Amino acid sequence: MTSLRDRDARVLWHPATHFRDLERLPPIPVERARGSWLFDHEGNAILDGISSWWTSVHGHGHPRIVEAIRAQVERLDHVMFAGFTHEPAVALAESLIRRAPPGYGKVFFADCGSAAVEVALKMSFQYHQQTGQTRRTRFATLRNSYHGETMGALAVCGSDAYRDAFAPLLMDVLELPAPALDRHEHADLRRDVGADSPEADAAVALLERHQHELAALVIEPLIQCAGRMTMTGAGFYRRLTLAAQRLGVHVISDEIAVGFGRTGRLLASEWAGVTPDLLCLSKGLSGGVLPLACVLIREGFEAAFSGAPARSFMHSHTFTANPVACAAGLASLELFDETRLLARLDGRIEAVARRRHAVAEGCTRVRHHRQLGMIAAFEVRDDDAAPRVRGGRLGLALREAALARGVLLRPLHDTIYWMPPLTISDEELDRLAAVTRDAIEAVLG
Ligand SMILES: Cc1ncc(COP(=O)(O)O)c(C=O)c1O
Repeated sequence: MTSLRDRDARVLWHPATHFRDLERLPPIPVERARGSWLFDHEGNAILDGISSWWTSVHGHGHPRIVEAIRAQVERLDHVMFAGFTHEPAVALAESLIRRAPPGYGKVFFADCGSAAVEVALKMSFQYHQQTGQTRRTRFATLRNSYHGETMGALAVCGSDAYRDAFAPLLMDVLELPAPALDRHEHADLRRDVGADSPEADAAVALLERHQHELAALVIEPLIQCAGRMTMTGAGFYRRLTLAAQRLGVHVISDEIAVGFGRTGRLLASEWAGVTPDLLCLSKGLSGGVLPLACVLIREGFEAAFSGAPARSFMHSHTFTANPVACAAGLASLELFDETRLLARLDGRIEAVARRRHAVAEGCTRVRHHRQLGMIAAFEVRDDDAAPRVRGGRLGLALREAALARGVLLRPLHDTIYWMPPLTISDEELDRLAAVTRDAIEAVLG
């Protein structure tokens, strides 16, 4: 019988995967998942150290979310959202607005993170066009940032690695410098950290110089996840947000990776005490189970879109506000309450910190290590690495070594990181730490 791998190789094209690497590290056929674990076809367990691209919040297959999905799909599987509404969308929007920083009035649903970023960019642009600020046609972004890979979202990525191949197609953006706090500890989450950095001064000066041409500043709060888990500081985020808003430049906060508890609070913006004009969410929004995204929109924003001659916001996705995905999102938020997850996170964050320090101290190859909430990162030295892992192959070699030991890690070149489900146990963290150490040893000696 043809194996699933062979059938896959014949018909599928996987994301973020080079064909030349498929032989060395073919896709693993996964049959089921539970809690922090994935199980392959042969019954081997793989610890999901990165929540499957930062999605799973309460662990895989949580019965509460599974049941909510089942009940919803039996009642109403889908209905178009133009001209119709339903309880799960309304209730989820109400719940998000109630839990978010004060000042949000509306929610616009989409179906993936990139789409949420596109919605926010277009909404900001159209807002200015319809309020007589027609010169505000550009966006500002941070160097090393990541916001998704559709054309608009890609244009506001501050990293050539993603942008290069498509450069001629992308709109021109203003790139601002951002700090990189190499040794960030979770306790450094004060509202002043990064605020007085030279990068913050330079970024604010650029915002001031270009203020009349800018529609919005797009920013990942506190940490640039795809940008090798680079911490930029709560103070930096706060200062830039307030500066942009003072200049009439919208702030689009991209909480797609960090929302839903990853930083120790439901939303990362809470640490900075700010209310961005547009706040993008996805990944953990449905508990990390179904594709769903949204933009939280500041109260009163819609005034620019109502009354003649304002045009409506011409943007729609077929599966906008899918009821089943919204029901999963509601169940996930209810789970936060029922399990008092946020209140218990301090203990989990401390548990991660202890193991992070132990790995770093026992491993001379770790150059820097840092943590923000439930996200921990280790930057390893690859100076003396064997030639086979140089030139962009280091991340792949580390991933391979971790997988051989039953743990899913997906290092960003020289940066190994943990972003496990928030419910990960002490024993599972011990395993994550032990395999991280062994993988570093195995690859870098
Ligand atoms: C900060 C951030 N923004 C946007 C995206 C894009 O989301 P999606 O992959 O769902 O399009 C990601 C995905 O990793 C992300 O981390």
